[in-house]
Amino acid sequence: MILGLKDVRKCAHNWKIFQSGAVPGRIVVPSEVSIRETRQIPFELDPPEHKHFRDLLNPWFKRPLEQGYINSLQQIIAELVDDVIHNGSTDIVSEFSLKLQSRALTLLLNVPYEESLVWINWGTHVFRSNESELDGEKAAILYDYIDNQIELAIKTPSDSLYSSLLNASIDGKKLSKEQIKGVMILTFAGGRDTVINAVTNTIAYFASQPSSLSRLRKEPEIIPRAVEELIRYFSPLTHMGRVVTQDTDVAQQGVTADSRISLCWASANRDASVFEQPNEVILDRKINPHVAFGFGPHNCLGATHARQIIKTLITTLTNKVDTIEVLSQQDNIEDWGAFQRKIGYEQLNAIFSPYR
Ligand code: HEM
Repeated sequence: MILGLKDVRKCAHNWKIFQSGAVPGRIVVPSEVSIRETRQIPFELDPPEHKHFRDLLNPWFKRPLEQGYINSLQQIIAELVDDVIHNGSTDIVSEFSLKLQSRALTLLLNVPYEESLVWINWGTHVFRSNESELDGEKAAILYDYIDNQIELAIKTPSDSLYSSLLNASIDGKKLSKEQIKGVMILTFAGGRDTVINAVTNTIAYFASQPSSLSRLRKEPEIIPRAVEELIRYFSPLTHMGRVVTQDTDVAQQGVTADSRISLCWASANRDASVFEQPNEVILDRKINPHVAFGFGPHNCLGATHARQIIKTLITTLTNKVDTIEVLSQQDNIEDWGAFQRKIGYEQLNAIFSPYR
């Protein structure tokens, strides 16, 4: 595991020696080699092929900056916040964050809102079982769903991401169904737990620090900085692997060809040589070169969408909610044997009292 910010950035930048385009599943920790063959795109490609896909996908993933998109997101979030105010004690994970993530994803994919019902019904454990992090049968739910959606988009074209990919070509060649599937799997999987944990953690944070919510209400101009700071602090994606292509040194350690390293975004984001008081949330932190969304060619394609969600969530909470009280909670702990890390919550029962 590469821990310091400088080393993480150096390795993430050096895609020739620390590659992503190995056998599908190998750069994920734990490895998914035994449960899937589909290459996730653009995540498991290296330049120059990687850049062709990024150039194709970048404009689509910038749509969250459009006013119509922002308005729809505001509506989705306002409705969910009103529901919690109205219903009283609510499990934020299943009744708020999962719904928010799923409904917002309909905007990103540009598919009918009703599709979110299917994804909400999958529950929070769709891509991992309770028993094991790696569950091929669970993953098949998503793969079959995506195969089906691609066939539907072939029969009935629309303005969705599926249809856009079906119409696209790279170097004059249409994308294959397998490539489209690779993009869609990543869009679903990469943006699910990360967003659910970012949203739930943000709410739990405001419950534990009521003065922060009041401060943001009084100083809305610092909300963009608060978004970056909360994402740095929570770092919803702990780390991601790379395959080493030649014997080399990294952070004063020798690594051999064909071994794996992991780029630990979460640790780099607490690097005391870069971040003052790294273990504190400083809402208006001025210098914040965090890597919660990665670094280098593979930086997060969904970051614009994720940032827009957290920004809209904070703004809506400051407008509508006075205080948040947590009644009970069950932590979601990532367990790698040698170390454990709290990444969010399995359950977080909370009450929102209205701001009048
Ligand atoms: C707070 C939420 C999120 C966090 C913390 C996060 C984090 C990351 C990180 C650290 C990477 C870099 C992986 C690497 O270098 O190997 C990444 C890549 C990626 N993320 Fe996210 N992500 C978030 C939300 C999303 C969303 C909402 C989507 C889409 C729906 C998404 C799609 C992707 C894709 C497609 C890539 C691969 C980009 C490439 O390889 O060029 N992510 N994300």
